[in-house]
Amino acid sequence: MKRILTFALPLIMITSLVIIIFAVVQVRLEEEKLMDDLKRKAATVAEVVELSAGYVLSNNDIPGAERLVRKFQNKKNIQGAALYDKDGNLIAITERFKDWKDEEKTYYQDVLKTRSARDKLSKFKKLYVYSHILPVIDDRGKILGMVEMIYDTSYVFARSMDFWRNIIITLASLLVSLLLIAVFILRRMFTAPVQRLTDWFKHFQKGETSKMHGLKEKGELGALASEVEDVALKLRVARKTMSEDASARLEKEDIWTEEKLKDLVRAKLGDSSMVIVSNREPFMHVLDEKTGQVKCVRPASGLVAAIDPIMRACGGTWVAHGSGNADRQFVNSKDKLGVPPEDNRYILKRVWLTPEEENGFYLGFANEGLWPLCHITFTRPIFREADWQMYKAVNQKFADSIIEELPARNAFVFIQDYHFTLLGKMIKEKRPDATVALFWHIPWPNTEVFSTCPYQAEILDGMLGCDLIGFHVQYHCNNFLETANRLLECRVDNEKNSIVRSTKETLVRPFPISIAGLAGEPAPGRADAQVEKIKREFGLENMIVAVGVDRIDYTKGLVERILAVDRFLEKYPEYQKKFVFLQLAAPSRTRIKRYSELLDEVEQLVEKKNKKYSDGAWQPIIYLKRYFTPEEIRPFYRAGDICVVSSLHDGMNLVAKEYVAAKSDNSGVLVLSKFTGAARELTDAVQINPYSIEEFADAIKFACAMPPEEITKRMENLRRQVSENNVYRWAAKIINNLTSLQKT
Ligand code: G6P
Repeated sequence: MKRILTFALPLIMITSLVIIIFAVVQVRLEEEKLMDDLKRKAATVAEVVELSAGYVLSNNDIPGAERLVRKFQNKKNIQGAALYDKDGNLIAITERFKDWKDEEKTYYQDVLKTRSARDKLSKFKKLYVYSHILPVIDDRGKILGMVEMIYDTSYVFARSMDFWRNIIITLASLLVSLLLIAVFILRRMFTAPVQRLTDWFKHFQKGETSKMHGLKEKGELGALASEVEDVALKLRVARKTMSEDASARLEKEDIWTEEKLKDLVRAKLGDSSMVIVSNREPFMHVLDEKTGQVKCVRPASGLVAAIDPIMRACGGTWVAHGSGNADRQFVNSKDKLGVPPEDNRYILKRVWLTPEEENGFYLGFANEGLWPLCHITFTRPIFREADWQMYKAVNQKFADSIIEELPARNAFVFIQDYHFTLLGKMIKEKRPDATVALFWHIPWPNTEVFSTCPYQAEILDGMLGCDLIGFHVQYHCNNFLETANRLLECRVDNEKNSIVRSTKETLVRPFPISIAGLAGEPAPGRADAQVEKIKREFGLENMIVAVGVDRIDYTKGLVERILAVDRFLEKYPEYQKKFVFLQLAAPSRTRIKRYSELLDEVEQLVEKKNKKYSDGAWQPIIYLKRYFTPEEIRPFYRAGDICVVSSLHDGMNLVAKEYVAAKSDNSGVLVLSKFTGAARELTDAVQINPYSIEEFADAIKFACAMPPEEITKRMENLRRQVSENNVYRWAAKIINNLTSLQKT
């Protein structure tokens, strides 16, 4: 509409102006003409009446005078006549103007004196009247009296009004016609060709080549269309060639790198790109209220740390909740932006949630219900019906947003985590042809525990909409297979590790997630400078440094860790003033009561233990409660002689792997909870049961006293493990599994 008005408004304004000026001039001319006619008519009639008036006046025939003026009473148009004697006194007047005599008429004397006619326009009652007065003179030149003709002029005004009405009707019809012509021209010349171009692009984006008919536009748009067609064709051919090259290279290389994963994606997915979905977004735009500056931050999330390198390698679209308070400022009209911001490698599509949706879906059902349900830490899950309803609604909202992104053929959707158990089924309802996988980043509990969830059947049903479900370890796969077997009508195929419901089969597989790989050797001098700076800043020179890096979450065993440090220093006092435990702790989910309570609990405990031991400048625990970027964390890992990961239950735990990756000099000991997925792979870590404070304290002592050769040997093994089983291998395994399921 705006475009039509921009086009038509100047036309409409000019046309209206011309017509209005024309109308004003016309009305003026018409009015003048009518008045001239009236004057002429009045003069003529007065002259005609003069003769009879002369006779009546010379005979002083009053009844004759009245008869004369009465004739005008019968006329259709309002008009009248009056007769005056030679002194200007009224003798007779037409009935309808009987009050005329009350009007003050100064011009009578003038008429008598000058012996000539006068006319005048004046207001009489509600009428505008025109009067023409003529002296009646006999043959001898003697004035006998006067005769006055009176006319109502309102028909002149009525004629003008009629004229204006006609002009307005003509103008309105003209404007409507102009508007219609503008719409028609715009549609033909602009909207329709642009719409054809847009449709063509949409089909190109979705890979619907059969619907991409050649563009037949003419003129400038035609030139643009032909350029677009040409670029698109080249792009298609280039993609195809790259995908063939990639297949060839895949046969040759056997170490998984970003490049190799790219090749695999090209070879297996070809033109189609993957759509990944998670609740947490990889990049958040956050407004710092104090400085007024917007920062782009990487959220503290193992999921984000693992999936981001995959997306950087493969491209595609990542759909996630836009949770940053400045997120809306950075998206285009389709809520998308290129990320990483400094080097766009993939598309982030942000889905907006209302505070109510966030409360019910994220804080409520996902994090107060499913999170404690799946982590055995003895925190009771809370299931509220309202939260569940919101969880379902938000899953549907994400499903709708994802479906918009799917190509017409070869659609791949890779769902992340417990926030989206229903998404698989919802996507399949609209796109049964899409290949859908779900990766579960947290543990899967045993059947008894899972069966406490009131919505167990719907959750399992939603998950089994997927073609593939991945867990970190076989143990969680087994738990899931058994849960489905016992709680649902289905057949579990133990040979194939799959679940069959009517004709639908879902494969269940372990895929231990990882990180991008080992950190390269730091630039000479630079690494040490960073580590030295940290040591100076926190007084760590000549100390054994143990580090911990976690979100403040009750599953991470933070309290147990502090108690273990306390017990270690108590039991082995020779380490007092020689050992420091440095914890980087990112506040997380703080709007949930259990999490805010934990924040206080940890802080108070740190304070208490520091008070117990502090001696001079030395404090056994340094607790840095804030968000740290991955770049900020790395030198802390390098500074750590020990890294402590004491989760009470954890799907994988990537901090353990990040620590190993950062230790390019093969130094450092990893103390790792046996209740993490990582413990199954990182067997050269010192493994602990974090619930046993005594064992934990002894493990810290063991790590502190470990001979350098053993440290190196263990770290070499750990690094080999992390380097070989990096996240590119993880993604490759999943993509291979996914494409083997692909429907043709
Ligand atoms: C775990 C979950 C992730 C989540 C992360 C951070 O790693 O598996 O899905 O993103 O915790 O939690 P948050 O609630 O801040 O996203």
